[in-house]
Amino acid sequence: MNPFVPIILIGVLLVITALLVVAEKLLGAAGEKRIIINDEKEIIVHGDDTVLNTLTNHKIFIPSACGGKATCGFCKVRITAGGGDIKPTEDPFLSQQERDDHIRLSCQVKVRGDVKIDLPEDLLGAKEYKTRITHIEDLTYDIKLVRFSLIEPDKIDFKPGQYAQVKVPGIDVIRAYSIASNPKDDHIVDMIVRYVPNGLATTYLHKALRENDKVILTGPYGDFFLQEDSNRDMICIAGGSGKAPIRSILSVLKDRGMPRKVKYFFGARSKRDLYYTEAFEQLAKEYPNFEYIPALSEPLPEDDWQGETGLITDVVDRLTDDLTEAEAYLCGSPGMIDACIRVLEKHKIKPEHVFYDKFS
Ligand SMILES: Cc1cc2nc3c(=O)[nH]c(=O)nc-3n(C[C@H](O)[C@H](O)[C@H](O)COP(=O)(O)OP(=O)(O)OC[C@H]3O[C@@H](n4cnc5c(N)ncnc54)[C@H](O)[C@@H]3O)c2cc1C
Ligand code: FES
Repeated sequence: MNPFVPIILIGVLLVITALLVVAEKLLGAAGEKRIIINDEKEIIVHGDDTVLNTLTNHKIFIPSACGGKATCGFCKVRITAGGGDIKPTEDPFLSQQERDDHIRLSCQVKVRGDVKIDLPEDLLGAKEYKTRITHIEDLTYDIKLVRFSLIEPDKIDFKPGQYAQVKVPGIDVIRAYSIASNPKDDHIVDMIVRYVPNGLATTYLHKALRENDKVILTGPYGDFFLQEDSNRDMICIAGGSGKAPIRSILSVLKDRGMPRKVKYFFGARSKRDLYYTEAFEQLAKEYPNFEYIPALSEPLPEDDWQGETGLITDVVDRLTDDLTEAEAYLCGSPGMIDACIRVLEKHKIKPEHVFYDKFS
């Protein structure tokens, strides 16, 4: 056989592949397409960018903590027509129920023809905010409070418990942080950020961010928020920076005279991981309905700790009665939340009364 035949075949295959890629680009990008939102609003699209980017360019802000790299799974939307087949990159994020409901990762769906999507009203309310940093405070050795004062728009409307996204200036990184402030202080957004070693956003927020810096936020987002029309007893469980949304929720309940019974468990390793202790102890003194239970899993000898010790799951298990009529609000690492839910279920909580944000 001619020794050049394999080389010629590979060359032909490469040319065909390149032609197919170019043809796909040209055909995909050609013509005018539409994104139809909730059968009401139409966006005319040229080119074949993703649904996520196209919506962002039209000031509709879908959560997207990984910037479209298919690693966060935040950008889910319901696509009722168009959008093509589910891509392998979407597979790990979609349950069977979500597939049946036509849920897709909007960062993976390209607008190659007309696309119909359903967006919940609250997502349509998310906005982009220009902000200025007006306060940075060390709460512990690895947790900071960061205050963003809104410039444009100068007010935000959010539910206590929801989160916003920070765009890290200079690098293509977006991360979610719960809003720790009271919704009535609608010209600021407080965030409580725990430093993650080598973490892109937290390294910036802890080491580089300065007062007066300008930062872009988007939001509000999330279905973790205080159920305002309920009067059930509440059990709140948080670890680390998970205190942030609970702080917002409790500030609203305090404004209303703490009308519901609240038991708040906070899990930390040792005393140096505790913060806002005095504020919550003061709240407990003022309102008999409110109980604050910090628990240390590894207290140091010098801590001289007289409070609860052990894993937060064990402490909750020990100090919790029947939860049939209670509501639970959980915030922290995915592992902590999964373990706490198992304990709450043991105490007969109803799954529909468990609300959580996993800080993954
Ligand atoms: C809805 C929601 C709300 C959140 N609210 C808050 C909040 O109020 N305060 C807060 O501090 N964080 C919060 N987070 C987490 C936050 O969004 C970031 O994931 C976290 O700050 C790490 O970002 P990074 O860019 O610094 O780290 P990355 O660069 O993303 O990660 C660096 C490395 O650290 C690991 N890693 C990432 N996150 C953690 C973590 N939390 N603990 C240990 N290892 C980690 C990663 O796997 C990776 O290996 C929230 C997350 C979600 C989804
Ligand atoms: S934006 Fe992160 S998965 Fe789509």
